[in-house]
Amino acid sequence: MKVAILGYGTVGVGVYEMLEKCAGLEPGPVLVRAGKEDKPFKVSSMEAIAADPSVGAVAEVMGGIEPANSYVTMALKAGKHVVTSNKALVAAHGIELAELARENGVSFLFSAACGGGVPFLHNLAIAAQSDNILSLGGILNGTTNFMLDAMQSDAKDYGDVLREAQALGYAEADPTADVSGLDALRKIMLACAVAYDKLPVDGFSREGIESITAADVADFQLKGLTCRLITSGGPAGETVYAYVEPVLFPANAPECSVVKNFNMAKYNGENAGAIVLMGQGAGRYPTASAVVRDLCGLGSLEMFRPDCVKVSADNSACVHPYYVRVDVDKAPRFSFKECRGDEECVRGIIEPIAVPAMHALADSVRKEGGSIFFAAMEA
Ligand code: HSE
Repeated sequence: MKVAILGYGTVGVGVYEMLEKCAGLEPGPVLVRAGKEDKPFKVSSMEAIAADPSVGAVAEVMGGIEPANSYVTMALKAGKHVVTSNKALVAAHGIELAELARENGVSFLFSAACGGGVPFLHNLAIAAQSDNILSLGGILNGTTNFMLDAMQSDAKDYGDVLREAQALGYAEADPTADVSGLDALRKIMLACAVAYDKLPVDGFSREGIESITAADVADFQLKGLTCRLITSGGPAGETVYAYVEPVLFPANAPECSVVKNFNMAKYNGENAGAIVLMGQGAGRYPTASAVVRDLCGLGSLEMFRPDCVKVSADNSACVHPYYVRVDVDKAPRFSFKECRGDEECVRGIIEPIAVPAMHALADSVRKEGGSIFFAAMEA
């Protein structure tokens, strides 16, 4: 089957190269911006791709919501299968696109949108049909894992490690989505929809790694702790919980061995128990491999099922102690169990507090121009 590719950036090039070597599949036209058609296989008309009867499937790897949404809609209406790596698109319009795919008798798959090369959503979609998924999440952003690992292992600066992650093709076009936790949040939204038929669209708590400093990292290291950006999701009554925040792990925790751009995706099945999947979560070939894996499995799997609905997340029952570093004058609003400070800031562990309450406290500090870093303490 011939596969048209929408976008020829980091992932698009990888998909093209893999399709050239993949039995049963071959690369078709590649959609690029008008004026960029410098090779015979590059075209700038999506209408021509949709009308091409030799194209059986479309791989959308251009990113962003528009024009990706219009192009995917056009492809599905034309009866082409669609595989995408675009988490922003799936988080915003996935339910409607999956419905359109069903109406047109084709597949809409998006393994590459969550976990890079790690087959997380694929396995979750299968597991959710036969088991009760009690919780899910883990390390789902390769850029921030690469950055935290390099800051801790090589004592590098935040700015330097971000530039390295961009150069290696791990980061989003706008890396703010990575470091702010938005990319990881979109991934946990998709995982909740696949596992629970509930796509959380608001009510989240999200904290990235933008506030971490070299002094914070040095302090964790003295205590033998390692920081990772963790996504968490699971059932919460009629809805789901879904949040992203830094977490500090003791040296023997498996998360500490997740280095570079690797991800560690987890789910806990009532019958299967804890399942852990590890691999490269970002980069050209890992992400392209997930796109091509979906193309090889067309017709055998549904990721958004017909009864998937949009919900508000509820994180109020999720409670942790937190490590907090905050300006001296803002410290009294936190219930420190133990702390120490200097003339500028106070550091220590606070009493357990619900996730939304912790995030609201941090917001209140920042709204007043203050500085804070916080990370949940892994029990
Ligand atoms: N920017 C993403 C990451 C790419 O770093 O994980 C893969 O989704």
